[in-house]
Amino acid sequence: MSKDTLKDLKARRSIRSYKADQITNEELDAILEAGTYAASGMGEQSAVLAAVQDKAVIAQLEKLNADVLKDPSAKPFYGAPTVINVLVDKKGVTPKEDGVLAIGNLLNAAAALGVGSCWINRAKEVFDTDEGKALIRKWGLKGDYEGIAHVILGYAAGDVPTAAPRKAGNVVKVK
Ligand SMILES: Cc1cc2nc3c(=O)[nH]c(=O)nc-3n(C[C@H](O)[C@H](O)[C@H](O)COP(=O)(O)O)c2cc1C
Repeated sequence: MSKDTLKDLKARRSIRSYKADQITNEELDAILEAGTYAASGMGEQSAVLAAVQDKAVIAQLEKLNADVLKDPSAKPFYGAPTVINVLVDKKGVTPKEDGVLAIGNLLNAAAALGVGSCWINRAKEVFDTDEGKALIRKWGLKGDYEGIAHVILGYAAGDVPTAAPRKAGNVVKVK
């Protein structure tokens, strides 16, 4: 791990305000590729990364997510122009862990490239709906999938927030 990697890991922050401009294809591909290189139980690579840049589909997913919040006026994707839906095949050995680790890679790769990102929850409920399941089929995915999270991506509008102080006592060293 290079010193730059360590800096990038600390610099990543959740972004909740986005410019309308789309990220480049090169940025999206590099972020997705980093996601596919996450460790996975038994090397199964069970996480599937479904990247959506179609505005109508993003709006559909955002509405499904707001429905879970029971708040029709909520905008849980904050105007981000790209949404990576992280899905895992329920039949995997450690599907949830694989999905979560892939998300970590996506978020950190985005930060390394200067692309804003945020983990958006409630993907499980979104992709458990008939409409969510229909989208998965439409995307050509055939397994029995569970949604782990939506990773939103785009260029931050405004300053990147500073990190909260790290909790004391969360690191223990036994020598
Ligand atoms: C499991 C999980 C669920 C999260 N869900 C949401 C969410 O639905 N919406 C949101 O804006 N941020 C969400 N976040 C982002 C956290 O709020 C954020 O990571 C936390 O406030 C710390 O800020 P940082 O990411 O800038 O360090 C989630 C993060 C995690 C790990």
